[in-house]
Amino acid sequence: MSEEKKEGKSRRELITMGSAFGLMGLAAAGAGGALFKYMMPVVSYGTPQKFLVPVKDLPDVGDELIFDDMKVILRRVDENKVAAISLVCTHLGCTVNVVETGFQCPCHGSQYDTDGIVVGGPAPKTLPWLEIKPVPGGQLEIDTGTALPEGTNFEIA
Ligand code: FES
Repeated sequence: MSEEKKEGKSRRELITMGSAFGLMGLAAAGAGGALFKYMMPVVSYGTPQKFLVPVKDLPDVGDELIFDDMKVILRRVDENKVAAISLVCTHLGCTVNVVETGFQCPCHGSQYDTDGIVVGGPAPKTLPWLEIKPVPGGQLEIDTGTALPEGTNFEIA
């Protein structure tokens, strides 16, 4: 028997054990990283912004217009009324997709009806409805920093 073996474990056994513990550590770190990623927002909420939409570019009555870069959907309620709903998920801030039944978040599966009211998943509250103001020059200003009750419509004026 070699000198190494007399003292307990051979060098080979120690290296094997070290490798096994190293792999377990990596696996634990990977699992922890996946859990951390699940718990944290995958997108930034961003700074609230206001943006303009020309009245002449509004959708037809009953239609909607999506502003991907602003994460907003603009709804033409009737001839004189519009509404804007944020597409930022109230769970951790992913951008929700528009689906036939309303909105669905691709991150953790929250579901909202067509008014943005939560019908499933971890989202804690309704999608924010946004303030819309007429401004000079035949335009509407939509403020992504507001959060009004669902169903809030605005006169086009
Ligand atoms: S960010 Fe988690 S469900 Fe939307």
